[in-house]
Amino acid sequence: MTNEIILAIETSCDETSVAVVRGGKEILANVVSSQIEQHKQFGGVVPEIASRKHTEQITYVLEKAFKEANVAWDDIDAIAVTEGPGLVGALIVGVNTAKALAFAKNKPLIAVHHIAGHIYANRFESEFEFPLLALIVSGGHTELVLMENHGTYELIGETLDDAAGEAFDKIARALDLPYPGGPHIDRLAHEGEETIEFPRAWLKNSYDFSFSGLKSAVINFIHNEKQRGNVINKADIAASFQASVVEVLTEKTFEAAMQYGVKQVIIAGGVAANKGLRKAIVDKFSDSNIDVYIPPIQLCTDNAAMIGAAASILYQERQFAGWDLNAKPSLPLI
Ligand code: KG4
Ligand code: ZN
Repeated sequence: MTNEIILAIETSCDETSVAVVRGGKEILANVVSSQIEQHKQFGGVVPEIASRKHTEQITYVLEKAFKEANVAWDDIDAIAVTEGPGLVGALIVGVNTAKALAFAKNKPLIAVHHIAGHIYANRFESEFEFPLLALIVSGGHTELVLMENHGTYELIGETLDDAAGEAFDKIARALDLPYPGGPHIDRLAHEGEETIEFPRAWLKNSYDFSFSGLKSAVINFIHNEKQRGNVINKADIAASFQASVVEVLTEKTFEAAMQYGVKQVIIAGGVAANKGLRKAIVDKFSDSNIDVYIPPIQLCTDNAAMIGAAASILYQERQFAGWDLNAKPSLPLI
């Protein structure tokens, strides 16, 4: 194990986070300042508000991380930051902070892909065994990524429209539940029954996903029920909707894991908190010899420690970024 100490910054969406990570596996501090309260009243993330909040929070979060980790600038070997993908105005705050600090303190700068970060969140839990398959499901992402080794990523499937979390949030909104809706749907789903047959977009011979047809079907169902004057059974709708999302995610992950003969499957991103998905994936793989790992919730959602873990691999390979580093809102995962 290496023992470099990396200061990591994550500001790609609505969490301002700074972490201090040793050797890619040990969290010395992981401070996360969430903006959910600010965005809640609008029913989703407002990019301009996100940028402004990051600017307000970043110095405070940085100071808190230093205090918690009990480190000084001399202890820091490199500064890592999420360069993309994400909201451009939000990413810029992290990238510029990292560049300014790296320049002022004469430290190497490391640019990290946000999805690589989500995958490496699991390295705090267990060592990777390759080949490895990661399912990343969050408010902004739904991706199946194959890794043959550290730092190599092959995107084998992604959503063609809405991200899984986005679908949860939109259905929650249609059911008058607060933002973010995923946890509310999850809770209700366990109180209801799967009484409605909503569609599953299998997209045959592909590991891609699509949730827009399902979203329209659920919204139409709610609309029709309301027009008929029927009482909406939110719990049954939540259970039926969640069953459709969970089945597609689970089956596609299983098929891909079999085809590529992987040793490990990792589930990451905010939707990995979903109880139905966790149980379905664990059950599906229980008879296989593939190990399934799901990081603890606080490492599944956006945080800077995961960026520090992914950066550790780049640090060892001396893959440093130049002063021309910029935010890349649609950065592909290569
Ligand atoms: O990873 P994350 O914190 O932020 C992004 O990078 O997007 O994921 C947030 C998403 C939201 O869409 C939220 O509704 C969803 O994760 N989520 C859940 C659950 N907890 C959070 N979705 C389904 N079930 C949950 N229990
Ligand atoms: Zn994320």
